[in-house]
Amino acid sequence: MRLDLGQLVSALARTIDLVGIDEVHHGRRVAYMADIFAARLGLSVDQRAQLYRAALLHDCGVSSTEVHRSLVSELDWQDSELHCRIGAERLASFAPLAPLAATVRWHHTRWQLLQTIDLDEGDRLRANLVFLADRIDALQAQRGLSANLLGKEELQRTIASYSGSYFFPEAVEAFLAVSGGEAFWIGMEPHFLEENVLLPPDWQEETVVEENGLVAMAGIFADVVDAKSPYTAEHSRRVADVAAYLAERCGLAPETCRRVRVAGLLHDLGKLQIPDAILESPQPLDAVEAATMRHHSYVTYSILRHIDGLEDITRWACEHHERLDGGGYPFRRGAAALCLESRIVMVADIFQALAQNRPYRDSLPPQAVLGILRDEQQGGRLDGSLVDLVERELASCYRIALEGPRQETDAGAEEVRR
Ligand SMILES: [Fe+2]
Ligand SMILES: [Fe+2]
Ligand SMILES: [Fe+2]
Repeated sequence: MRLDLGQLVSALARTIDLVGIDEVHHGRRVAYMADIFAARLGLSVDQRAQLYRAALLHDCGVSSTEVHRSLVSELDWQDSELHCRIGAERLASFAPLAPLAATVRWHHTRWQLLQTIDLDEGDRLRANLVFLADRIDALQAQRGLSANLLGKEELQRTIASYSGSYFFPEAVEAFLAVSGGEAFWIGMEPHFLEENVLLPPDWQEETVVEENGLVAMAGIFADVVDAKSPYTAEHSRRVADVAAYLAERCGLAPETCRRVRVAGLLHDLGKLQIPDAILESPQPLDAVEAATMRHHSYVTYSILRHIDGLEDITRWACEHHERLDGGGYPFRRGAAALCLESRIVMVADIFQALAQNRPYRDSLPPQAVLGILRDEQQGGRLDGSLVDLVERELASCYRIALEGPRQETDAGAEEVRR
């Protein structure tokens, strides 16, 4: 299938940008600044496009709010290496984004140290430009964006003092040259940022994504989501496994099963926007918290809808909290509007969540999970034929929900699993 790489990068960037409560859009500001420096340094259009994408995605190795907070509040942070490594690994798993991996891998390494590492010249420069933009954003986050225009000289002095040690001297010069003007800072304010970070049309690039590539791409999103909270670790991957298994047992074509798997991987993207305290609450959610939680499947929809070619997957993913009686959310679609693939993702999501340990309860045994699905079906909310199928395949579904598929035996298992 053909997908637009620019649309994919933007969707992934929006996903990553959901992390961080007060400091949203960090990735976009870093891309905005890095590109301005690159233009000043005379980089080619191709190099700029590469840098821009890497800058948008540079924090794809982070998803806990806590880690994000350290990253945006300290100039040099001793554990910063880890998210660089994880991010680079994630990008390397999907061929069209693999060329960005080196930039992400080294985006917290001082310029002096970078000289000693065997690295392509372009990657070295891109990594340091991202580092520079990233640290400028960390420094400005400490003072609050609105104070930029008042505090820019101080920020310039701080950055200048790291020229040659942390940062490539010419990059620092580029920053000093462009940051004297108000426009540089005002352009980063939320109101203007959106229009300033659209990928220029000549940077759009159609890329052919193989079916397995689609799963690998969705796996990057899933890993970002699943890493957010220890309580939901692997939830997206295991929902995908159960959903693909059910789809196969329903007799759907292999290609459809694979797309159902992708919907499972992507279904909870919007959870990145939900505060950790709500996701990890040991008590039942109160009305306000529950209302916050009900945003997440809409957020999934709002991110995925911009990727042409993923329309069906987007629909199956964002409908996972809909119910056949029309009482679900966010669209309140009823049985007539909900197709089999959506119903499969719904059942797989509930099944996996019940089988998994959660902060408010322990993992439920198979019969108890089935009992809850049965109640839901009898209440008119879930598909009866799917609950029957789960009953017939209960042991397999349960094992897959906790451990994932066995490579040789379970249909729909992917070679790209990690
Ligand atoms: Fe960052
Ligand atoms: Fe969900
Ligand atoms: Fe879920």
